[in-house]
Amino acid sequence: MRIIAIANQKGGCGKTTTAINLSASLAKRNRTVLLIDMDPQGHSTLGYNVRPEEIGLSIYHVLKEGISLDNIVLNTAVNNVKLAPANIFLSAIEQDIAGASEKEKRLYHAVNVSKKNYDYIIIDCPPNLGLLSINALRAAGEVIIPLDVSFFSLHGLGKLLETIEILNRRSGHKVETYLLPTMYNRRSRFAREILEEVKSHFKGIIFSTPIRVCTKLRESVSFGCPVSEYATNSIGHWDYSAAVDEVLLQEDPSMENRSVAVLSSSINITPKIASERGVATSGFMDSGFLFIYKDPRAIEVKIAGDFNNWVPDKGVVTIRDEDGTWKKIIKISPGAYQYKFFIDGEWKEDPGNPNIVDNKMGSCNSLIVID
Ligand SMILES: Nc1ncnc2c1ncn2[C@@H]1O[C@H](COP(=O)(O)OP(=O)(O)OP(=O)(O)O)[C@@H](O)[C@H]1O
Ligand SMILES: [Mg+2]
Repeated sequence: MRIIAIANQKGGCGKTTTAINLSASLAKRNRTVLLIDMDPQGHSTLGYNVRPEEIGLSIYHVLKEGISLDNIVLNTAVNNVKLAPANIFLSAIEQDIAGASEKEKRLYHAVNVSKKNYDYIIIDCPPNLGLLSINALRAAGEVIIPLDVSFFSLHGLGKLLETIEILNRRSGHKVETYLLPTMYNRRSRFAREILEEVKSHFKGIIFSTPIRVCTKLRESVSFGCPVSEYATNSIGHWDYSAAVDEVLLQEDPSMENRSVAVLSSSINITPKIASERGVATSGFMDSGFLFIYKDPRAIEVKIAGDFNNWVPDKGVVTIRDEDGTWKKIIKISPGAYQYKFFIDGEWKEDPGNPNIVDNKMGSCNSLIVID
């Protein structure tokens, strides 16, 4: 299981938007998720349609009185996402536990008791590095720092990285750090330059897909739901799904029964290659094109594209291996084809194919050219 804090002392850089949509997209990939709202503003709470002023027990009581997280979690409209809510009372916590022992480890202890119930715990932090953020970072194994590339300050980021470094040293606790560029407008030269600069500075820890500016993300919060429930055909939904792909790729392979949606390769398949790869094509076709998609948790994987008039799985032979590898074979003549996978009701680009094209509907398709 993984515990990920979403932190940055800079306000309005996309922490809450990331916490809400990352948790929903993880749930869509069959992970059980607990979202902990550690911000007295209660924006993650609102984002899941819970009115902060109406909650009884909240994360405040967990930190103040040591009650169990299990006693405060609420179900949300998204299957597999539970919420530990917060409201304005949380702003008093710093004073209320000022003299208490181990006040920086309150969340750590609470999470330790409840973490067995979840694959992921996502913690939304407030825009400062006070006691609440320190509690979150102490409890987390990883931190994602959203970076607003439209208004970027290396100074602010440096300060946060320094804090994480100090925390690592002080507590003897290593927090893996990742940077997620947000509010990216690829039409802006300034934003493109900033993104390139940040990428070269922080190679290896920065998400490769930035989250683009998307009004649907903004709107979905006011409707009290993640963008996946509001506008599946939006840039915001696509970008957070892509970010989740990257999170899943970082999953520890030793995590029991967890595997990642990775396409090992799509290949032109002849009967000879088919037999080498363990694909029994004989009997139904002489040769075809093999698309491979691996995700043991996927219940249904289909493929659609120009080659089958975008009718999922039309003309496609499917083989599902025991280990969750889906093999899709389709006879295609030479040419260029756009396509997508359709996984448990969600359209998705081919994660193993770097060739993508804008489909003019605000998202992208994978592209394959067969000679
Ligand atoms: N990719 C995006 N495109 C458009 N609007 C966005 C995007 N990400 C976030 N926003 C909007 O920007 C505002 C700030 O985002 P958000 O609340 O996620 O930031 P935050 O870091 O949690 O803020 P705070 O520091 O106050 O907690 C919100 O109105 C949100 O809807
Ligand atoms: Mg926030």
